[in-house]
Amino acid sequence: MEKRYLRLGVNIDHVATIRNARGGQHPDPVRAAQAAAAAGADGITAHLREDRRHMTDDDVARLSAGIDLPLNLEMAATDEMLAIALRHAPHAACIVPEKRQERTTEGGLDAAGSHNHLAPFVAKLNAADIRVSLFIEPDMRQLEAAKSLGAPVVELHTGAYCEAEGTERDRQFRRISRAAEYAEALGIECHAGHGLTFDTVAPIAAIPTLVELNIGHFLIGEAIFGGLESSIKRMRSLMDKARSEAHGERSA
Ligand code: PXP
Repeated sequence: MEKRYLRLGVNIDHVATIRNARGGQHPDPVRAAQAAAAAGADGITAHLREDRRHMTDDDVARLSAGIDLPLNLEMAATDEMLAIALRHAPHAACIVPEKRQERTTEGGLDAAGSHNHLAPFVAKLNAADIRVSLFIEPDMRQLEAAKSLGAPVVELHTGAYCEAEGTERDRQFRRISRAAEYAEALGIECHAGHGLTFDTVAPIAAIPTLVELNIGHFLIGEAIFGGLESSIKRMRSLMDKARSEAHGERSA
């Protein structure tokens, strides 16, 4: 297989979390998106939650109008979010499960169990030329459901892999790697993300059928110590190195 470029989508939700701790305008997620672009990000990801705990409607409007990179809007499958997505027409919309009480998106969408609920959302986003992705667990049944729903993209949840240790991490890694391979066989573009750090990104970046990683919390946290540009550049270089080394091994 030829070596493919691995895109980095930077999730800037937690710039808004810090701003919201005091209210007001600072730090501005749009400025963070511009800094991410200057540091080599390929896209900006933002999750408009039902409770608006980080991104606000105004942020989504300003990001849609004011950045040069493609915007990936993470959204729950609700009528309210669908209307917002259709209004702003971001490059992509990633449908995620959402529970009010959770701290973060704890697991993937049950695309298989919620087929009838999801079908009109996928159809309407597809019809509006918004690239739909379903955030799912690395599970064959979920991939098949994404295929039957007509989603062109899936994003595999890497949270369990990042949290596990030792042989359990190896097992979680194999689930992701097999799912990414199966997505390719089904003709679905495969992304991955959640919980990735400098320490966990390399094996994931080496999976040749992955096209994009979405990374947020760690990059924004790390920016406190070295700046956003430096944290994104380091992540980018770890991803590139892992992919080049894996490609070298495969083609040797
Ligand atoms: N991808 C999706 C679909 C997510 O919901 C999130 C978290 O909002 C991420 C990626 C990024 O996860 P993290 O902030 O842990 O890097």
